[in-house]
Amino acid sequence: MTETLLVTGASGHLGRAVINHLLDTFKVPAARIIATTRTPTNLADLAALGVSVREADFDDQASLAEAFQGADRALIISTNELMIQGKRREQQLAAVSAAGKAGVAHILYTSLPNPEPGSPILFAPDHYDTEQAIKASGVPYTMFRNGWYDENLFMSLPQILASGHWYTSAGDGRISYGARDDLAAAIAAGLASAATESATYTLTGPKAYTVAEVAALVTEVTGKPIEVVQLSDEALTEGMKAAGLPEPVARLLVSFDAASRTGNLGMVTDSVEKLSGRKSVSLRQFLEANKARLAG
Ligand SMILES: NC(=O)c1ccc[n+]([C@@H]2O[C@H](COP(=O)([O-])OP(=O)(O)OC[C@H]3O[C@@H](n4cnc5c(N)ncnc54)[C@H](OP(=O)(O)O)[C@@H]3O)[C@@H](O)[C@H]2O)c1
Repeated sequence: MTETLLVTGASGHLGRAVINHLLDTFKVPAARIIATTRTPTNLADLAALGVSVREADFDDQASLAEAFQGADRALIISTNELMIQGKRREQQLAAVSAAGKAGVAHILYTSLPNPEPGSPILFAPDHYDTEQAIKASGVPYTMFRNGWYDENLFMSLPQILASGHWYTSAGDGRISYGARDDLAAAIAAGLASAATESATYTLTGPKAYTVAEVAALVTEVTGKPIEVVQLSDEALTEGMKAAGLPEPVARLLVSFDAASRTGNLGMVTDSVEKLSGRKSVSLRQFLEANKARLAG
C-alpha cells in the first residue's frame, strides 16, 4: 500500500493517538502521513520524524484549499466547537467540500452513535449532516461513530467523588464507555487499510454500564462511596444552572443523560477489537489506571 494518509485536527487527543498508531502500530512510513492542525508548532516532533505537517483551520477556506492536496485517504476529525450553534456543522462541511475538491479518494469521519434525526443529543445534527454531506460527495467513505470515551469521566468524577453524589437523569440507561486510545487504534487501522468500500462502524467499549454500575465500580476502585440521585431532565438542568453552569452547557450535558436513558449510547459492538486487532481496555482497567487523577 502506497497511499498518502491525512489526519485533520492532529494536535487533539484523538488525532495525536491516531498518528501514533499509524507510525508505531501499523508501521506507516512518516513520509506517507500528512498531519493538519490549526497550530503546526504543536506538531514539531512529528515534523522532525518526517510527517508532513500543514496548517488547516476549518474556519479558513484559504487554508483548506491547500490542506488536502495529495492525500489519498483523509480522516476528518470532528471539531470541538460546541457552543456556537451550527458552527461545527459549517466547519465540517467546509472540510468535506475541500477534501472532495482536492480529489481525496476515501474520506473517513469521526461521528456519533445513532446521529439520525430524533437523537436527544443536542449536537447530533452536526454529525448527521456531515455524514450526509460525505455521502452526497460521491467519495467512498468510512464513518466511525465513536461511542463515549472513558476519558469523559475525568470531567465529572472528581466532583462526584468530592461530593459523594452523582446527579443524573439517565435512569437505567447504559453507556458503552471505551478507552479513547482503543478507538484511535481502530480508526488508524481503518485509515491505513486498503479498504475502498464505504462502511459505517459504531465504535464502542466492550461493555455497557448504567450510572449505578459505573458508580459501584468507581467505589470499588477508589474506596469512596457515591450516592446516585435520579432526577428528571428539567430538575437536573436546574440543578446544574444553580451550580453555576451556563444554561446551554447544562442543556447539552443533560441531553447526554437523555440519550443514555433512551438507549442511544448503550449498544456494544466488536468493531474496535476487529479493526484494531487488539483487546480493548475494560472500564475497570481504565479506572484502576487513572485512580489518582479521578480522585482529584
Ligand atoms: N466520543 C466522545 O466521547 C467524545 C468526547 C469528546 C470529544 N469528542 C469529539 O471527538 C473529537 C476528537 O476528540 P479529542 O478528544 O481529540 O478532542 P480534543 O483533544 O478536544 O481535540 C479537539 C479537536 O478539534 C479540532 N478542531 C477544533 N477546531 C478546529 C478547526 N477550526 N479546524 C480544524 N480542526 C479543529 C482540533 O484540531 P487542532 O487543535 O489540531 O487544530 C482537535 O483535533 C472532538 O473534537 C469531538 O468532536 C468525542
